Amino acid sequence: MSDRRILVTSALPYANGNIHIGHLVEYIQTDVWVRFQKLRGENCRYFCADDTHGAAITISANKKGISEEEFIAEVKKAHLEDFGGFDIAFDNYGSTNSPQTKRFCNFIWEKIREADLVSEREIEQLYDPVAGRFLADRFVRGACPKCGKKEQYGDSCEGCGAVYSPTELIDPKSVLSGATPELRKSKHLFIEVEKARDFLQDWINNSGALQPEIANYLKAQFLSDELWPWDISRPAPYFGFEIPDFPGNYWYVWYDAPIGYIGSTCEWCEKNGEKVEDWWNDPKTEIHHFIGKDITYFHTLFWPTSLNAAGFNLPTKVHIHGFLTVDGEKMSKSRGTFILARTYLKHLDPSYLRYFFSSKTNSHVDDLDLNLEEMELKVNADLVGVVVNLASRTAKFAHELGLSETYPDDGGLFAEGASKSDEIAASYEACDYGKAIRTILECGYRANQYIENVAPWNLKKEWGKLEKDPNASEEDRAAAKKKLQDAVTVGLNLFRQIVVYLSPILPDLARKTEELLNTKITSWNDAQTFLVGTPVNEYKHMMTRVSKEGIQAMIEESKETLKSEASENAEAASASKWDDSAQPLVDEPLSETITIDDFMKVDLRVGRIIEAEQVKEARKLLKLKVSLGGTETRQIFAGIKAAYPEPEKLVGRLIVFVANLAPRQMKFGLSEGMVVAAGPGGPDVFLTSPDEGAQPGQRLH
Ligand code: 2FM
Ligand code: ZN
Repeated sequence: MSDRRILVTSALPYANGNIHIGHLVEYIQTDVWVRFQKLRGENCRYFCADDTHGAAITISANKKGISEEEFIAEVKKAHLEDFGGFDIAFDNYGSTNSPQTKRFCNFIWEKIREADLVSEREIEQLYDPVAGRFLADRFVRGACPKCGKKEQYGDSCEGCGAVYSPTELIDPKSVLSGATPELRKSKHLFIEVEKARDFLQDWINNSGALQPEIANYLKAQFLSDELWPWDISRPAPYFGFEIPDFPGNYWYVWYDAPIGYIGSTCEWCEKNGEKVEDWWNDPKTEIHHFIGKDITYFHTLFWPTSLNAAGFNLPTKVHIHGFLTVDGEKMSKSRGTFILARTYLKHLDPSYLRYFFSSKTNSHVDDLDLNLEEMELKVNADLVGVVVNLASRTAKFAHELGLSETYPDDGGLFAEGASKSDEIAASYEACDYGKAIRTILECGYRANQYIENVAPWNLKKEWGKLEKDPNASEEDRAAAKKKLQDAVTVGLNLFRQIVVYLSPILPDLARKTEELLNTKITSWNDAQTFLVGTPVNEYKHMMTRVSKEGIQAMIEESKETLKSEASENAEAASASKWDDSAQPLVDEPLSETITIDDFMKVDLRVGRIIEAEQVKEARKLLKLKVSLGGTETRQIFAGIKAAYPEPEKLVGRLIVFVANLAPRQMKFGLSEGMVVAAGPGGPDVFLTSPDEGAQPGQRLH
């Protein structure tokens, strides 16, 4: 073992909602990595906290009629229960609303000021004249400027995922008073990220902290242009920390959120007699952040800039993962696949999800699909059928006999498993848990083959026969007994070796194995040492098969829990006024009448955008690759660049397009269709999307 000191974090969950299975992708990935490091004997600590500031918290607390502090305390309790249920073992779980985080916010701020990275600018913002306050993103609702979906917040659209500023909303209304907000000027503080360009360029290119696809994305999307200043202040009232040298203004929640990593470390240090500097200032300490791809730029542009200015360690590695889909689709409230952690726990064993997610985890940014049927098959085949099967077929005999005093000849099986240690460890280290599992299962297959061959149940019968046979000698009886004892000793040792390797993923199985064999698993090297001469406890079920009924009940309940939310939304929609403007029809009057046959000539299809990139040389064009399902795809050049400046955000989205338009050779390649969009043009182009449930390839009638 080395003497690494490793600090690990997962993204701090917002304190305004429940933990769901989408969150768990990351917490499970991180927890497995930390458990692995600890088992290897590394000084590794896992810190997290609730992300508690910002306008959304105030809205939620107001809704419940309690203070923000009471609200975040309730949420923290619920989050800790949910994480505990999935065996996520933090060393400290704090809150960004802590004195420790505040102290570091102040300290880092001073350093950012000293580095001359702060500027003051006047900006125009929506202001509620009735409530008498500026409206943070979440306090204003209106129609999405990209897709037109009504009742969207001021920062992003729940329908199409577009991110925008609240002043772009169509027909905005204040959430506080219902008044139409007006634009007013106010002073904000900005961090001039462009001034940190040289540092960022070097860090992104040379530190090795980023996955290659992420470094490329940052170079193409951000470093290729001037880096925008980052608006870091919000005027009062705002739930957060007041900026000491800018009274009446508060740090924007994303300034203090990552500082919560340091705050949580500090809380732990205070409780454990450690020094926070050892963890954040000693360059020998490794810092590993695990995050989702949606918050990449906060962690790879702003955060390193803040850390660098303040003289803290920079992240050794930012491990970025993709999103979760369920059965190939975005989690959906109506389909019951938006599954809360607590709903899952009522119906299924958390080990299933830990195992399934791990089997799909690698070091890339790919999205992860939870196909529930695949999970059922995989868990039943691998864990129940291969791993636990080793114990269930041997433990009852071993309970009667104990393990042999010396390890029997197993034909080299244990040694072969032991020799895989470095290979499996390297896979864990690289977050390639899928590969680790594949190697471990190979050991499992060999062990099962061994059990099949020696057939302890037959050995038991033979021994039983000799016990009853008056003519059998004591030596024969003892030999038969020993044969059985040796067989199950081998079986249980091979089982334990596999459990040691799997224990970062399956801590519950490890605990049950410790209980069965009366011996703790304390080190990765336990996979190198035999267990002999120990008594074996009575075998209790270690894992049951995944039941279809459990999955179904979980889905049904997930639909149930959202009924109330759905009816709330319906109420909100019916209460709003539909005062749509007459202008679009004036601008573009209706066309002359056509027959149904005319219409049927146009083959409109649902397609999924699977690739989207800017055509650098063309002012207006994006190049799209659209899937029609299966392997059928079309390349389409669409004049929507101004409306969709971040084409990567379109990837995954369903659209409607004309599929039988004659292909057109353009300067940049062949265009094989036309996407259907509304709006006059330029930035005002709105792609159309079918409702949830539509499939690529389906025709529009
Ligand atoms: O995206 C989110 O859910 C944020 N609450 C993550 C914060 S991560 C860190 F910076 F605190
Ligand atoms: Zn939208």
